[in-house]
Amino acid sequence: MKSLYPLCFALCFLIVNRAQAQTPDWSTSVASIIYNNCTKCHNSTGIAPFSLESYHQAVNYSNLIPSYINNRTMPPWPPDPTYRHYVNERVLTQGQIDTINAWVNGGTPEGDENLAPPVPVFRNTAVLGPADLTLQIPTYTSTATNADDYACFVLPLDIPNDKYVKAVQILPGNPKIVHHVILMIDTTANMTNADCMLALANLPGSNSAVTLTSYAAGMGPTVFPSGEGGLKMGERLKKGSNIMVQIHYPLGTAGQVDSTKILFYLYSDSAAEAPNPPLRTLAVSLYTMNWLISIPPNTVQTITATYPSLYNIPYPGASTPMDYSLFAVDPHMHLVGRQMTSFGVTPNNDTIPFERVLNWQYAWQAYYFFHNLIKLPSGSVIHGTATYDNTTNNPYNPFNPPQTISAGENTTNEMMLIAFMMMPYETGDENYNMDSLVNLAIAGYPPPSATGITNISTGDAGFALFPNPSSGGQFTLTPSNLKGGTTEVTITNILGETIKAVHYDNLDAPVSINIEGQADGLYLVQLKQGNYTAIQKLVISK
Ligand code: HEC
Repeated sequence: MKSLYPLCFALCFLIVNRAQAQTPDWSTSVASIIYNNCTKCHNSTGIAPFSLESYHQAVNYSNLIPSYINNRTMPPWPPDPTYRHYVNERVLTQGQIDTINAWVNGGTPEGDENLAPPVPVFRNTAVLGPADLTLQIPTYTSTATNADDYACFVLPLDIPNDKYVKAVQILPGNPKIVHHVILMIDTTANMTNADCMLALANLPGSNSAVTLTSYAAGMGPTVFPSGEGGLKMGERLKKGSNIMVQIHYPLGTAGQVDSTKILFYLYSDSAAEAPNPPLRTLAVSLYTMNWLISIPPNTVQTITATYPSLYNIPYPGASTPMDYSLFAVDPHMHLVGRQMTSFGVTPNNDTIPFERVLNWQYAWQAYYFFHNLIKLPSGSVIHGTATYDNTTNNPYNPFNPPQTISAGENTTNEMMLIAFMMMPYETGDENYNMDSLVNLAIAGYPPPSATGITNISTGDAGFALFPNPSSGGQFTLTPSNLKGGTTEVTITNILGETIKAVHYDNLDAPVSINIEGQADGLYLVQLKQGNYTAIQKLVISK
């Protein structure tokens, strides 16, 4: 090691020197990256251990930040972005990583504090407005003294008839301690709190308890397209069912109190039945799984599974093979699982990548929503491969010394399960852009940024459109809380095609924009100013 020091001195000197020439500063370059990608968890009420809500806080942690972003531990995002991208992905671009590194190496200059973006304000609130149905767990005190606490709650669903979910938000009672939540529905309504842990596994052939959605710290609501762009999707809540809620309270939260709420946004009965567009019901199934896991101590094992055909998928009414549209994928393992890949192979031998996780973390599991619905033709085979590291090299190994680990539903057992949210395919499904449809349905909910990361911060949408609906395509865009400066405004249709792009050298006052000649319908107006991105919907109706 010692002999490297002179080299390091020389190199470091060079690096510092180079960096000084072009060091990015906090106000114009770094703050927006941190605020958009870190602050939703790193704030005074968030799950992360320290706040990143100011220049000084970022400087305090500037020794720690580079290694975490360089090895992509932060922001947490288990799927490998070189395999597939998803809606609202939390991934820094290499350019953003380079900027933060250069800022740290260059001595963390602040720059002109007047140019810094506003500090985002995080609200742990019902961002979609008042819910149609709210369930709440009884007040619960975390028991995570020596181990993580995975608590389960069974909540009766009091509805007069079957309902369809348009959106669901899991609202942590205490966001400092709620790490993840898995929401399931038990249509038999006979599972107990103890069964709830087991139900997580949903054995093959049993369709009584299925996951509805999941929450991991820092995530917003799950929103299904609800008619805009011609696509209306929902999940079924069967009358007389129970909702089961599994919550992960991490180690060290013992004694702290939580009372998490589940907010359901429902289609009205008439909207659920209305033919135009017809409601498409999502099912969560198509499990690829392997229950023959037995991993001897001190071994690394790779296990595969296939979902051989699409017969007998427990989708309502499905008994013959059919084409499916896949909406989301949820890979699931426990603590010794390290990697998991799944892909489909069509009858024409085309390979469709679904997910690849190279550094599995039980604590950060979630559903990943595809950018576009994926068509899985009838007769396709789904493949899964999972690698388990039952050695002491695995920092998450629950046993030391390692023990044989077999399949089972306790956290210290193992599982290999890949679940999909899917529905029967209809022509054109693969053309729907889920980024816009899923994010748009969120009223007043700030938008995906350039990298697809949702800034759930300010509640300030950045600009307003008037009139909206616009008859004909003429409207005024009024910036609200923006600093001014070079701005790009892009208008796209619901298929993601650009209708108009306008550049402003300094947008700080209302401007008039015209997209006359476009068909009636929904359009997206996206505004980019520096690293700030905001999106609004615009309706044109004659
Ligand atoms: C989704 C929530 C979330 C986001 C987004 C996030 N973090 Fe974290 N961060 C955490 C949590 C939680 C921890 C504590 C360790 C753990 O549980 O993984 C943590 C830990 C850290 C640590 C280590 C702290 C320590 O004392 O060991 C650093 C450094 C860090 N984060 C930096 C960042 C940076 C920089 C970003 C943005 C580029 C970011 N994080 C984005 C949740 C988040």
